[in-house]
Amino acid sequence: MSERTLVLIKPDGVHRGLIGEIISRIERRGLKIIGIKMIRLSREKAEELYYMHRNKPFFEDLISHVTSGPVVAIVVEGSNAIIKVRNMVGATSPQNALPGTIRGDYGLDVTRNVVHASDNTENSEREINLFFEDHELVSYM
Ligand code: RTP
Ligand code: MG
Repeated sequence: MSERTLVLIKPDGVHRGLIGEIISRIERRGLKIIGIKMIRLSREKAEELYYMHRNKPFFEDLISHVTSGPVVAIVVEGSNAIIKVRNMVGATSPQNALPGTIRGDYGLDVTRNVVHASDNTENSEREINLFFEDHELVSYM
């Protein structure tokens, strides 16, 4: 089933020069990039993106990290794109993420774990709509 998912290269990933590496991995996996932009997240946007974690002890660290510098938002499309990208990203904590995954290869700690990726269809739709208008997404047909 064709799906769309949101990938966000977090400020640590941008700062360390990993934009190209992450885009390459998405392309090599056979997934399509249908929208991309570099932005600075406002606190409001970041809190909306991660509202499900608002009562967690790590919420403040998470919000302050993702608003600390520019991020790259990417809309990825393809067959089973959500689970494919989640598997490429790896476990939340780099100490558990396997080598070969983005976090397993580059993650520094649970906050500076390089990327965000949507975890289900409901969230992917919501997250894509937070950052992109319909006319900003392309069709390859
Ligand atoms: P993401 O949403 O960023 O793709 O990451 P995820 O699904 O693997 O993990 P999630 O549970 O949704 O957590 C969102 C982000 O919060 C930070 N976090 N810190 N200190 C902690 O225990 C902790 N737990 C989670 C991570 O940066 C995680 O990516
Ligand atoms: Mg998550």
